[in-house]
Amino acid sequence: MNKSDLKNFGFLNIPIPKDINLVEEINKLRKEKNAVILGHFYIEDKLQDISDFVGDSLQLSQQAAKTNADIIVFLGVHFMAETAKILSPEKKVIIPDLKAGCSLADSCDAKDFKKFIEANPGHTVISYVNTTADIKALTDIIVTSSNAKEIVESLPANKKIIFGPDKNLGNYINSITGRNMLLWDGACHVHKQFDLEAILRLKKENPDAKIIAHPECEQPVLIVAEHIGSTASMLKFTQTDKSNKYIVATESGILHQMKKASPKKVFIPAPALDSTCGCNDCNFMKLNTIEKLYNCLKYELPEVVVDEKIRLQAEKSIRRMLEISAKLGL
Ligand code: 13P
Ligand code: SF4
Repeated sequence: MNKSDLKNFGFLNIPIPKDINLVEEINKLRKEKNAVILGHFYIEDKLQDISDFVGDSLQLSQQAAKTNADIIVFLGVHFMAETAKILSPEKKVIIPDLKAGCSLADSCDAKDFKKFIEANPGHTVISYVNTTADIKALTDIIVTSSNAKEIVESLPANKKIIFGPDKNLGNYINSITGRNMLLWDGACHVHKQFDLEAILRLKKENPDAKIIAHPECEQPVLIVAEHIGSTASMLKFTQTDKSNKYIVATESGILHQMKKASPKKVFIPAPALDSTCGCNDCNFMKLNTIEKLYNCLKYELPEVVVDEKIRLQAEKSIRRMLEISAKLGL
């Protein structure tokens, strides 16, 4: 194995013997190495089933902050693993594929964001967790879609706020809190492409179905949604709500947990503008595979590292989020 392979491929391109049972081997390795596997709701079904914990961004960062494991294997995208490393620097954090990035995090360059902050002095800077460590280091408080409303509301009403990088989430939080946060112009390529007309056609064909949406979706989709929330919130809604059918406007991986929790209910993935591209799948999340997970755990590579100066600054903004969330019982 050589380090340039990791740079080229983003993962360990090492052949795996055909006769091994990958799930059994992964179970052995995680025990031997005292590793915990944290998985996001958007990864493929069998990886969700193999994870020690599956959750949304807030739940995963809470788990990463409290785990006793020596190694954290993150089945999600890079900023999630980076958040785990920032919170648990003494642990080894590994990720099956370093190229599992995030278009929303990429829509906010640290140099440009710094200029934006400098051009608007006197603002509290709130950033969505879907950001690089560099952006977190420039931020006062991190939020996720599970706690953004409550954290914004915890600040005095006259506080001037910069919110980045997701303009859709920012607009939505402005609309429900009556704030006028200054928004960075970023978006997620998966959530911005849901097809409103196709969603409304589906609703006409299935009048008994409720439309549920992630706040990263564009405003027209949010306007027709009957429930808006983080992945964990959408999942909980489908468990407690009385309807039997849902049109789900977020990455399709979440349907696995919805079907598991409510096997008698029907879940219809909201269609994308380009129906040929399967773009309600996040291509970054789907870079995680069981083969890459096996090699990652076996060789403990690729490892996620964060510069210590940046880590210390970034940690403050994440800890503030965790503290406020704990106080509010989130
Ligand atoms: P959640 O925190 O709701 O899981 O969102 C993560 C994400 O990346 C949405 O695209
Ligand atoms: Fe990032 Fe969008 Fe993928 Fe979520 S769905 S990880 S916001 S690219």
